Amino acid sequence: MPSTSVTHTTSANVADLRESATIAVSTRAKELRAAGRPVIDLGAGEPDCGTPSFVVDAAHRALDAGATRYTPVEGILPLRAAIAARASHIHGGPAIDAAQVVVSTGTKQALFNACFSLFGPGDEVLVPTPGWTSYFQMISLARATPVPVHGARERQLKATVEDLRGAATSRTRGLIINSPCNPTGAVYSRAELADLVAFARGRDWWIISDEIYRAIAYDAEACSLLSVCDDFDRLVVVDGVAKSFAMTGWRIGWSISTRELARTMTALQSHSTSNAPTLSQHAVLAALGDASAAARATGAMVAELRRRRDQALPLLRDAGLDVVEPSGAFYLFVHAGRASSADPQPGTTLATRLLEESNVAVVPGAAFGSPEWIRVSYAAPVEQVLEGVRRIAATGISQDRGTDSGGGPQPLPMSAMR
Ligand SMILES: Cc1ncc(COP(=O)(O)O)c(C=O)c1O
Repeated sequence: MPSTSVTHTTSANVADLRESATIAVSTRAKELRAAGRPVIDLGAGEPDCGTPSFVVDAAHRALDAGATRYTPVEGILPLRAAIAARASHIHGGPAIDAAQVVVSTGTKQALFNACFSLFGPGDEVLVPTPGWTSYFQMISLARATPVPVHGARERQLKATVEDLRGAATSRTRGLIINSPCNPTGAVYSRAELADLVAFARGRDWWIISDEIYRAIAYDAEACSLLSVCDDFDRLVVVDGVAKSFAMTGWRIGWSISTRELARTMTALQSHSTSNAPTLSQHAVLAALGDASAAARATGAMVAELRRRRDQALPLLRDAGLDVVEPSGAFYLFVHAGRASSADPQPGTTLATRLLEESNVAVVPGAAFGSPEWIRVSYAAPVEQVLEGVRRIAATGISQDRGTDSGGGPQPLPMSAMR
């Protein structure tokens, strides 16, 4: 029999797809550690503490009670009702109904469902930049175009209405808001959010608000768009438990939107993963069901993260480095300086140097659309954070900012997302 050769070509759907740079850094750090290198991993985007024990106990009980089967695609009703009740409390307006909630396999899937359901070929979606790496890829997978909107340095790189106006075209269909922001830790004030919302709504854009870090805010409460918007007209709020409850591996997130969009996203999810893991849904039901235990657990984690931020930040600043003021999340966004004006990606150069020469893993800012920066996570044991930050401070980063104005929108080549 003549052998048939198989060519492994992939489709146009994934032609521009890049693996997640944040996950790639962590994987590389783990590999180096396994090979015996004493790598300090400040690349990871997950709390280093365990899931609260009252949540783990509830999962044990659910398993004993046989929570091992499929659930409705959109999640078990008690969990959706608990999410809706919590959201109604934040909203303060007409009650939000469980039918508006879709529980997904992580906030990532909730975001993917929203991007895929709302945007398509020819559409442009504004992404305040630096912005979380997967927004760009998800919008592209929906065959729409992500448009980075660069905020000014003096405003913690946050985008304003003027920035949005400069990036908008007749094809703009949506805006993604992420406050507190990964990778900068910047938090938008209520007034700033209200301005962005008014501008977007005036143009009938969809707003997707990713509120996964909302519980991790240090200086002032981070507002939910649930408390800024009166209704769900072209609004999708996504949230999850990965960061606030240290439940990254349980894979539960959710979206809240109109009933109609919730039905569409449920149908989409029914053809990919079906329901989010059953056992995890029961664990999250317990997490949301005991508000005082939850507040204690999250409060202790936030206090510890604040302590690390307050110790790490001066070490970098005293070394003359430019660091965005972090008011939430658990990242320090550090300007990489410019060893040579010919280097288009100083953040990647610095991240490579830090890993190879100083055994510190950080994420290049190119992953977030800002190639002149690096992201340093302080969700690691405090002694490692401080040692890692000391090594970064000792690299002698030149603070010659070259041409980096932090200013207007620029097209983002997908190759920059590696
Ligand atoms: C801004 C942002 N949104 C969403 C996610 C995804 O969260 P999950 O683990 O719930 O899928 C992450 C994870 O790092 C994130 O940083």
